[in-house]
Amino acid sequence: MAKPILISGIQPSGKLHLGNYLGALKNFVSLQNSGRYQCFFFIADLHSLTEESTPKEKAKQIMELVADYLAVGLDPKKSTIFLQSSVPAHSELAWILNTITPMGELKRMTQFKDKGGEAETTNVGLFDYPVLMAADILLYDSQVVPVGDDQLQHLELARTLARKFNSKFGKTFVEPKPLLTEIPRVMSLDAPDKKMSKSRPGGCVFLDDSPEEIKEKVKRAVTDSESVIRYDAKNKPAISNLMRLYGALSGDLMPDLEKKFQNMNYSELKLGLANTIANYFAPFRAKKAALRKQPKIIEKVLKAGNAKAQKIAAKKIEVVKKKIGVAK
Ligand code: TRP
Repeated sequence: MAKPILISGIQPSGKLHLGNYLGALKNFVSLQNSGRYQCFFFIADLHSLTEESTPKEKAKQIMELVADYLAVGLDPKKSTIFLQSSVPAHSELAWILNTITPMGELKRMTQFKDKGGEAETTNVGLFDYPVLMAADILLYDSQVVPVGDDQLQHLELARTLARKFNSKFGKTFVEPKPLLTEIPRVMSLDAPDKKMSKSRPGGCVFLDDSPEEIKEKVKRAVTDSESVIRYDAKNKPAISNLMRLYGALSGDLMPDLEKKFQNMNYSELKLGLANTIANYFAPFRAKKAALRKQPKIIEKVLKAGNAKAQKIAAKKIEVVKKKIGVAK
């Protein structure tokens, strides 16, 4: 039997950080290397247009994200890596799905509400975002979609739309399932009650950061009052965040980490964490630096991936068009 199809995408909207890595990319690489799936990983550039940026920035963000994909270990020989906007069927299917999507479903999306859905000036793309995402997924008959829990509601819509289309026009789409994996909560180094995010650069370790930058940020991380190092997410959120990060990268389990640091102070923990992060991403930095010097490699990867995705998507959109009666 053919391996199940797996798809996921990331928006090109700025530098990736530890939260992005541990929440998505690390998982993409292990799913790819498990050999259990036919993997498609794309750059969700159309989605990213819902946020303000300049054409120059956008072009750069796209190239950077492909370089990130490759530098973390996504392998174009094993996975199809492509650019969403280069496959027109994504937009076409999104439009068709729009016509069977009730406004109410989109109005109650948490992400839409959080991003100012009520405002008159909010762009329609932000409203329609989940429908485009459904198109991304359904176009490839994807069975498995690794996403963070913030995207579960969107995935549920993709399932609903697949069912609705199938019952209206006959079996066409596969109902995709989310793939949730244990993801450590990565909080901001300067505010452990907030998610790590590029909007708080001081508390955010970017994958591209140099060892010096990493050391500086980790050194400045806030800590908790009592000086002993133990894992207690409720009463010691700051130290627990540092320990979770350490464990996520070193592979140490929490009891072993507590043992390792039992006679040490906070600054020793920070130094250990900074070194762990810096060493973990050393191969990433080297690979990315090499890719920056050879943008042709990135172009080649995208060209091949785009062609592969295009072939599958073009076939599927023809089937869809026939089903709804607009093509022969
Ligand atoms: N909305 C996703 C995110 O922000 C990105 C995305 C777009 C996606 N299309 C997708 C993820 C299709 C999985 C499948 O994380």
